[in-house]
Amino acid sequence: MSSYDLIIRNGLIYDGSGGAPFKGDIAINGDRIEAIGDLSADTAAREIDVNGLAVAPGFINMLSWSVESLIEDGRSQSEIRQGVTLEVMGEGTSMGPMNDSMKAEHTRGILGNARIHYDIEWTTLGEYLEWLEKRGVSTNITSFVGSSTLREHTVGYDDRPPTDDELEAMKTLARQAMERVRRAVAEIEVVNGARISLPTRISCGVAAFRGVESPRDLIAEAEDHMYLDKAVAPTVAPAPGGPASAESLLKVGNLKALRNLVKAIDRRDSYTRFHSDHATQLALTVARELQFDEDQLNAIAIGGPIHDLGKIVVPDEILRKPGMLTASERRSMEEHPVMGAAITAAVTDYDTVVNLVRHHHERFDGNGYPGHLKCTEITLPTRLFTLADAYSAMTTDRPYRKGLTFERAIDEIVNGRGTQFDPDLAVAFVAMIERELGAKEAAA
Ligand SMILES: [Fe+2]
Repeated sequence: MSSYDLIIRNGLIYDGSGGAPFKGDIAINGDRIEAIGDLSADTAAREIDVNGLAVAPGFINMLSWSVESLIEDGRSQSEIRQGVTLEVMGEGTSMGPMNDSMKAEHTRGILGNARIHYDIEWTTLGEYLEWLEKRGVSTNITSFVGSSTLREHTVGYDDRPPTDDELEAMKTLARQAMERVRRAVAEIEVVNGARISLPTRISCGVAAFRGVESPRDLIAEAEDHMYLDKAVAPTVAPAPGGPASAESLLKVGNLKALRNLVKAIDRRDSYTRFHSDHATQLALTVARELQFDEDQLNAIAIGGPIHDLGKIVVPDEILRKPGMLTASERRSMEEHPVMGAAITAAVTDYDTVVNLVRHHHERFDGNGYPGHLKCTEITLPTRLFTLADAYSAMTTDRPYRKGLTFERAIDEIVNGRGTQFDPDLAVAFVAMIERELGAKEAAA
């Protein structure tokens, strides 16, 4: 005999699986269902006999418009009495994010309901939901980020297509809202049947409509980003079928992620793509001269083009910021080698490639990141690639500054011998560059 907090007896149970209802009892401890079935031998602190009434999981209202009525009366009786326990609000128009002019505009309510008065004390959508919860609501609540709201926030009521910058700003707002959900979901504790706590994580992807994409294109683009996002932290909870099915799940995800990696870099930032290919070619030229073995050549050939892959998780406003980065922005930027290595490790077990992606910002004197590796602690292909990466970055024009002249860049490499760069490799690298430049001049 077991004892529970609550037993609901003699219910007609709809278990949410879509199967036929069945008669039985439900035992609950705290907020968790502990047992379902014939519990006539068990007892509870509180028992409710429902005499054959239907017992079902709460219904979800996917298109709730209670954004203002819940401010007026948080009891939500019109929903609760129909069995709705979760209200999903904000489809099209949501209560956030708000800017100052929206706050001024909407003092009489976002839906124009003149009878409900309130002050807009929040800015983001998450703050609105928290504000509402603090006032007290009986249902669970969540919200879409309204597409019209993002547009009003960025473009206002002008009747024109958004500029590229405005579209990016809208995507950033959508991403910020998703990040908040992601943080909240990560804190939820899910316990499986064996009472093992499982990690929870959601992956997000955003795509914007530019006036030509089909719905299918948009979903594919958002899905590409979602899979990449998923690859960053490839935590897979053990599937019910055991480790084998978890492994196969991972493989399917990886194949798709791999296909999208390079495509996604390209979309995000064409500078990164050009620079990565350029640095790879320079490093391979020297590597062949120095007769690197096949494994070392592969590390550069495969790892080089994707070495900055981790920038995919650096927010646009930091990645494209023209001026100096703040300390926290720099920290975020400096996460990219680790992020890139995590993504790469999810799709290949080729260690030398993962190593190159992870350590391409190490310095010969140990003052680099993320590992503060020194001298030969950094693998040979990575040490060589670091040189090519720096040279290519210095000589390539970027949106916010012109590249250095070849002479200045060579000086920088020579000055960095023994501190930033492997001294011997730097000599070989500079010799190769000077030979190539000389050949170009001779041809011209
Ligand atoms: Fe980098």
